[in-house]
Amino acid sequence: MTIVTGVTVRVPAKLNLQLAVGPPRADGYHDLVTVFHAVSLYDEITAEPAGRDGVTVGGEGADRVPADGDNLALRAVAALRAAVPSAPGVHITIAKRIPVAAGLAGGSGDAAAALVACNELWDGGLGQPQLLDIAAQVGSDVAFALLGGTAVGRGRGEQLTSALAPATQYHWVLAFADGHLSTPAVYAALDRQRARAGGDVAPEPELDSALMSALRSGDARLVGRALSNDLQPAALSLFPALRKTLAAGLELGALGALVSGSGPTCVFLAASADRALDLAASLSGAGVCRSVARASGPVPGAAIVSPAR
Ligand code: C5P
Repeated sequence: MTIVTGVTVRVPAKLNLQLAVGPPRADGYHDLVTVFHAVSLYDEITAEPAGRDGVTVGGEGADRVPADGDNLALRAVAALRAAVPSAPGVHITIAKRIPVAAGLAGGSGDAAAALVACNELWDGGLGQPQLLDIAAQVGSDVAFALLGGTAVGRGRGEQLTSALAPATQYHWVLAFADGHLSTPAVYAALDRQRARAGGDVAPEPELDSALMSALRSGDARLVGRALSNDLQPAALSLFPALRKTLAAGLELGALGALVSGSGPTCVFLAASADRALDLAASLSGAGVCRSVARASGPVPGAAIVSPAR
């Protein structure tokens, strides 16, 4: 019998290819219809037995991640413990590559990875349906980080249906901003913008059939044209410099451009891996963002990388 001393899980960042936001609900959240898409930019989480629960965070933006009970990965551990009551203490080490507060669901991904790692470490034996339920309690985007791929999210984003799409890989360029946006602040800015614009309450969000048929066709050009994000005007109002970033990417030949989730990361779809390479180099030279990265998607959700299975 092998004694497992630590379990390492890697988890992808997410983009929202569509983010349609309804009116605010009584619980402070907004009903959404969103098309999630997992891309090949990963955080890594290691869970090891420890006297008591704790977390250490290293890598990109680590100083902005809480290292106490507010840490989403530790909140996930606490939520999982309710289902695995005899579980011992665990130390979580997070190696971040997904920028923090960037609209890429890095924190939610870390929580999903912690669920997968601890379920394995504790021999919890929970299946994906149970993990998805626990994930939904921890945060709106956590369940998708477990699932990965391309999926439609409803409710707060936690009610998921996988989108059956052809095996097309899309090539993305991500432009990381010199600054951060708080998700609640961006939703609040959208509510204010809508209130100022007058009219009735925001319409119920609906899935964009043009985007879904573009995804079914696997035609990146059509997908690029159909990208949409209701939070984008709110993110731009709080972070006006992003307009320049989006415009630069489109001028440089991106098939589509949008703010990712609540921002401030801007994402650009390229026609091929080579075009993504060119676009990344040109964007980085244009001085319209802090740094750039390339990523492809869809990729699977949180998965154990060690011990090898
Ligand atoms: O669920 P999560 O903790 O990731 O959400 C962060 C914040 O984003 C919420 O507190 C809320 O202000 C906002 N939010 C929202 N509607 C959603 C998802 C998030 O208003 N569907």
